[in-house]
Amino acid sequence: MVVAVVSFSLRRAGPVQFPLGKEAPIRTWNLALVGFGNVGKAFVRLLIDKRAVLRRDYDVECRLTGLASRRLGWLAEPEGFDPAALLEAGPPAPVAGGPQNVREWLAAARADVLLEASSLNRRTGQPAIEHLHAALEAGAHAVSANKGPVVHAYRELRNLAREKGRRFLFESTVMDGTPIFSLFPHALPAVEIRGFRGIMNSTTNVILTEMERGLDFDRAVRKAQEIGVAETDPSDDVDGWDAAVKVAALAIVLMGEPITLDQVDRTGIRSLSPEEVRAARAEGLRYRLICRAERTPQGLRASVRPEKLPLSDPLALLEGTTSALRFDLDVFGLSIIEHKAGVVATAYGLFADFLRATTLRS
Ligand SMILES: NC(=O)c1ccc[n+]([C@@H]2O[C@H](COP(=O)([O-])OP(=O)(O)OC[C@H]3O[C@@H](n4cnc5c(N)ncnc54)[C@H](OP(=O)(O)O)[C@@H]3O)[C@@H](O)[C@H]2O)c1
Repeated sequence: MVVAVVSFSLRRAGPVQFPLGKEAPIRTWNLALVGFGNVGKAFVRLLIDKRAVLRRDYDVECRLTGLASRRLGWLAEPEGFDPAALLEAGPPAPVAGGPQNVREWLAAARADVLLEASSLNRRTGQPAIEHLHAALEAGAHAVSANKGPVVHAYRELRNLAREKGRRFLFESTVMDGTPIFSLFPHALPAVEIRGFRGIMNSTTNVILTEMERGLDFDRAVRKAQEIGVAETDPSDDVDGWDAAVKVAALAIVLMGEPITLDQVDRTGIRSLSPEEVRAARAEGLRYRLICRAERTPQGLRASVRPEKLPLSDPLALLEGTTSALRFDLDVFGLSIIEHKAGVVATAYGLFADFLRATTLRS
């Protein structure tokens, strides 16, 4: 007798085959999320939106069994919170006798995957490093949208993940949902990255465009805030810190250079006057905040600074929340453009990492 089989695509973790007519068992993953701000909420919304595709194409269900933030405390619900209710009515109040720290919380949530979406602490990366460390120690995968742990503890967390047979992933830390870290080495094995150059901060892009159009710096900042790009305190973007953290993360992970944030030569856009920006435009040039890293005989050179670009440079054409990165590889050059990304793209980066950690082949 010939037994027909349904074979599954290579997207799956293993070459599983089931007799025709039999459904694959559904695997349920428990997720624990730190941070319920813009990214955390967009991630919960994506869990609702992607539920059907997870079941249909991956035989996966996931439930949010842990939710934590500074104000919420450590909330755990082993049967899973109702995501729609979390978004509509807000999270429940903590119960007496509930978890008091990250370790108790991970245990109470029976977490398989921790998702870190708390605020960046660029000086130390804490307490996000501690959250991710505790997750890996507890046998969960660790996924971060927070750049701090990548810049301050990449090797430590990567090594711990390897030791525990788990994954430490952070795709959404640079260019949101765009696969940057995932490209190397899997899609591009054995290439050498000699350097990169790009625009990786939307706020400064919007501010510079608005200054070209005639607004002064403060009004351009307000415009960026009104359209939801800039934070209430835009200093990290305007002074180049956000871009510098991304440069450091790329250099550390993809170029194997253990640099610190202080080693990125950083100048923001605060000192640029509207007159300078408009004079450049009149000359057919455009100011953009450019991120760079290159290997030199003296070591890695990394910088973030405003540069005047000719309009023939593709980076000069980027506006708003579009960002781009060009890698100089030993074998060719590769440019990646992410068009008009927002918080949903960041949430998608977390979501894709969850799938990569649990379901997809690495
Ligand atoms: N927004 C984006 O598009 C984007 C893109 C890439 C990466 N990221 C990164 O994603 C993370 C979240 O960004 P966001 O835009 O969602 O920020 P957000 O709206 O300001 O939300 C931050 C969340 O983190 C929580 N939090 C802050 N400090 C905490 C702590 N010590 N312990 C536990 N929770 C803490 C806050 O809790 P409370 O409200 O209770 O204080 C809040 O729920 C940041 O690291 C950011 O750099 C964001």
